[in-house]
Amino acid sequence: MKARKGIYMVIEEITGRIARDLEHLKQYTATPGNGCTRLPFSKEARQAVEYLKELMHEIDLEVSEDAAGNVFGLLKGEDPDAPCVMMGSHYDSVSNGGDYDGIAGVICAIEVARLLREKGIKPKRSFVAAGFNDEEGMRFGTGYFGSGAMLGHRDVEYTKKFCDKDGISIYEAMKEYGLVPENIEEAAWEEGRIGSFLEVHIEQGPVLDAEGVELGLVDCIVGIQRYMVTVNGRADHAGTTPMDMRMDAVDAAAKVISKIADWAREKADGTVATVGYINTVPGGMNIVAEKVEFTVDIRSRNNDNINDIAARIKKALEREVAEYGGSYEIENKLTITPVELSAEMLDIMEAECKELGYSYRRMLSGAGHDALEIGQNLPAVMLFLPSKEGRSHCPVEFTKYSDFAKGTVIMQKLAEKLLDK
Ligand code: GLV
Ligand code: MN
Ligand code: MN
Repeated sequence: MKARKGIYMVIEEITGRIARDLEHLKQYTATPGNGCTRLPFSKEARQAVEYLKELMHEIDLEVSEDAAGNVFGLLKGEDPDAPCVMMGSHYDSVSNGGDYDGIAGVICAIEVARLLREKGIKPKRSFVAAGFNDEEGMRFGTGYFGSGAMLGHRDVEYTKKFCDKDGISIYEAMKEYGLVPENIEEAAWEEGRIGSFLEVHIEQGPVLDAEGVELGLVDCIVGIQRYMVTVNGRADHAGTTPMDMRMDAVDAAAKVISKIADWAREKADGTVATVGYINTVPGGMNIVAEKVEFTVDIRSRNNDNINDIAARIKKALEREVAEYGGSYEIENKLTITPVELSAEMLDIMEAECKELGYSYRRMLSGAGHDALEIGQNLPAVMLFLPSKEGRSHCPVEFTKYSDFAKGTVIMQKLAEKLLDK
């Protein structure tokens, strides 16, 4: 009973601090009153990073920002050469998203550092709280820019390859923001410096909320492929061009797009496929479209399913284009394979949940996360918190601050075990 009361008090204090920080960070959006829009290399991203740095300084962490725009707070261990325990998430958001996706995980990581500091312990290994840049891929259609750079997966060519909808490349956006894209490879950490990666995140789906379960222990994250497809036709008069004499890019694209969701429905393993963006050019009611651009995002825990749907899309494009005489291009923006998270760390988390009396379940993540990128190379683990009615990537996204506190306590306990291993 006494131990239980202790944890209630701790939870209350942590809840208060997390609420203060997340409430503060809500203001750094380009769309006030209409959700969080904190795109990479924007003014709002800079403001959020400065606030994160302040919090890190407040608890005396060694603060740094790297060549990719990631921010780190280091709590040095007794053996600074031993592989560190890193915890974090991303500080960017989608357009008109919620106030918790990503950023809450950064705040939980800083909170773990604060709890370690308050305990006055000097762990054997270092603990690093991390805020990653451009996890979402919203602006450039990519994803995991910051965490990928930390692993050495990004170079200057990559920054020149991808552009936003205004034609601004990552390279140009970085320069504008005050970073030096030529230095991007300096963001890579030497192999062996990071021992494990921990991430707290909102579930962004309905399972925990619907089942009334407090915590989700994520054992697998889906793989993802993303494409930008361009179908080229010919602009013509909508009234005078007979149906068999036009090269209608919308007609061809629509025939392909209409099949994509059904191909995903045929598969098991949490397979989903989404066309989230369509643009027609010139976009006139009485003009046959000369061009259609659309995105495809395919996910599954079984990589074969993703490859199969991607192959079917290419085949269907070939067929439609052959039929009406146009052409198409398909640009791969992201390919990342599914990842199994660390069974050892999941077992520790499960034991901690039991000890504290929190309900939990193991689950798949259908959303991508920095842990997906990092988990390709390093032992990683994730903890999910309930999202009200499963809503996310929209302004109504909501998770209780006290739920973040519960997640923080579990991760602190896990971190303490790892830090002294
Ligand atoms: C990010 O939230 C993603 O899953 O796309
Ligand atoms: Mn997201
Ligand atoms: Mn996220």
